[in-house]
Amino acid sequence: MTDRYAVIGHPINHSKSPQIHAAFAQATGQDLSYTAIDSPLDGFAATVATFRESGGKGVNVTLPFKLEACALATDPSEAARLAGAANALKFDGDRIWADNFDGVGLVNDIQVNLGHALRGRRVLVLGAGGATRGALLPLSAQGPAVLAVANRSADKAHALRADFAAHAALQTGGYAELAGESFDVVINATSAGLSNETLPLPPGLFAPGALAYDMVYGKGLTPFLRQAQQAGVSALADGVGMLVEQAAEAFVWWRGVRPGTAAVIRSLSVPLV
Ligand code: ATR
Repeated sequence: MTDRYAVIGHPINHSKSPQIHAAFAQATGQDLSYTAIDSPLDGFAATVATFRESGGKGVNVTLPFKLEACALATDPSEAARLAGAANALKFDGDRIWADNFDGVGLVNDIQVNLGHALRGRRVLVLGAGGATRGALLPLSAQGPAVLAVANRSADKAHALRADFAAHAALQTGGYAELAGESFDVVINATSAGLSNETLPLPPGLFAPGALAYDMVYGKGLTPFLRQAQQAGVSALADGVGMLVEQAAEAFVWWRGVRPGTAAVIRSLSVPLV
C-alpha cells in the first residue's frame, strides 16, 4: 500500500515540498504519496489528528505551526526541544516523534554543496527568531572558532546565549557591536528582506573569501545578498539548498533511504541576479 505523507502549513500553496518528495520517491523507488495540507490557524492539532487517523505516516510542518508541532510530540529530538520547534513529525502507534532538520539542512548545504567548511571558522548568524534557533545546534556541532548571533533587539540574542549555554558558547549582541569584527560565513536568518529592508551591517564584516548565505530562497538577489555583493563577496547562496537538504533528512528519517539532492536543487534554483 502507498504510504502517505504531507506538509502542513498556512498558507501552503507555494510549498515546494510535494515536488521535492515526489522527486526523491521516484529516484529511490519508494512507494509513497506526499500532499500539501492547508490547516486553519486554530486547527493544527486537529489537522494532524485527522491525517494520522486516516493512516498518514508523517508530516513536514511549516509556518506558522513549527512551535505547535514540537509541543504536540510525545518524543521530540534534542534539536527540536532546543529550537522549541519541529519541522518533521513521524507517527508510530501512539507516539509522535518530532525533529527539526532545518539546521542540519543548512550545515549540509554550506559544507557539502557549497564547499565552505565550518570547523575553525568565524560564523555569524543574523536574527534571533525561530530560524536562528533551529540552526544553532548543528552549526555549533561543526566546531566553528566563533559562533555569533546579532539581532536588532540585542536582548533577544542574549536570551539565545542563555538558552543554548549548555551546548554552545555564543557571542551575542546588536548590529552596532559587529563594528570591527569580520566573519568567514554570514547567514541571514532575519525576515528583514521580505519587506525589502536592509540590515545595518558595518564595513569589513565579510572576511576575504567569505560566504554570504540567505535562508530565503527563490527570490534571486535578496537585499542581504546584494549588500554582501556590494561589499565584494563573490560566494553568495540562497536557501534553496537548505530547503532540499532538510527534506532529504526527513526522507531518510521516514524511509531509511537517502535520496540524492543535487538534481532537485538544480531544478529549483533561481539565478541570483
Ligand atoms: P523566524 O521564525 O523566521 O526566524 P521570527 O521569529 O519572527 O521569524 O524572527 C524574525 C527575525 O527577523 C528577528 O530576529 C527579527 O528581529 P527582532 O527580534 O529584533 O524583531 C528580524 N527582523 C525582522 N525584520 C527586521 C528588520 N527590518 N531589521 C532587522 N531585523 C529584522
